[in-house]
Amino acid sequence: MTNTDTSKIIDGRAVASKVEAEAAAAVLKLKEKGIAPKLVTVLVGEDPASQMYVRMKHKACERAGILAENCIKPADITEKELLAVIDALNKDKTVSSILVQLPLPRHINEKEIMNAVSPDKDPDGFHPFNMGSLMINEEGLVPCTPKGIIRLMEEYNVDIKGKNAVVVGRSNIVGKPMAAMLLNRSATVTVCHTSTKDLKSYTKEADILVAGTGVKHLITQDMVKEGAAVFDAGIVTDETGTYGDVDFENVIKKVSLITPVPGGVGPMTIAILMTHVVKCAEIIAAAENKK
Ligand code: GUN
Repeated sequence: MTNTDTSKIIDGRAVASKVEAEAAAAVLKLKEKGIAPKLVTVLVGEDPASQMYVRMKHKACERAGILAENCIKPADITEKELLAVIDALNKDKTVSSILVQLPLPRHINEKEIMNAVSPDKDPDGFHPFNMGSLMINEEGLVPCTPKGIIRLMEEYNVDIKGKNAVVVGRSNIVGKPMAAMLLNRSATVTVCHTSTKDLKSYTKEADILVAGTGVKHLITQDMVKEGAAVFDAGIVTDETGTYGDVDFENVIKKVSLITPVPGGVGPMTIAILMTHVVKCAEIIAAAENKK
């Protein structure tokens, strides 16, 4: 085996295809029961990156047989108007999932908007109810990127229990929920962030290292443990190319498993989102049956 043996590279695209196929099969089962899962994305303004992400989510819905609509609003929409949009979608029985693409314009309070989405229609898992459930080890609708990383760990037989897991980054979307999911699976978890002193002293101890900072090549070869499993949720595009948080070319020489960027964690986020749209439809149907 050479130092850069391709067997070390986690194929996020392949696992994402498998997850999407599972979602598609679940959609067929729901349709047999007369339930058609439907995602409505809410896109505010004309940020090209957000437009691209929303397009990718719609294409994934098409592949999975999920109905999808895009609700586009101008950048100068007021918070009150946007809350009214969310309220109408919450009440619409044909809508199973609502995804408000972030970031929102600065005059809108993101927390207010996240709180307004019905927790049952929250495929992103960002609502405080869903986040709180995750914290008490009741994982239902959870943030898609860390859930995708957990699925990659399962697919590649990465043992979590009792391992030292270090998460670099403390965002609400990646770092914090990642730490909770690893803790729920009995890892010993350390969370590092911008105020951490001597980052390397922590990362060098990691059997499992997850980076989600958006800082290009923050994690270098000297910072990782021999044989570690490394998951890179960062993505930075500049004039020279697309990069992750991890210096892949050099770090791969030392570790046992690593996700590339692109083609690692990224495709998993959207695939997991599809499974969550299915889950929302199932939750709503179960609640209806109880009535
Ligand atoms: N913006 C960046 N990542 C995400 C995500 O996972 N969900 C939503 N809704 N917006 C995002």
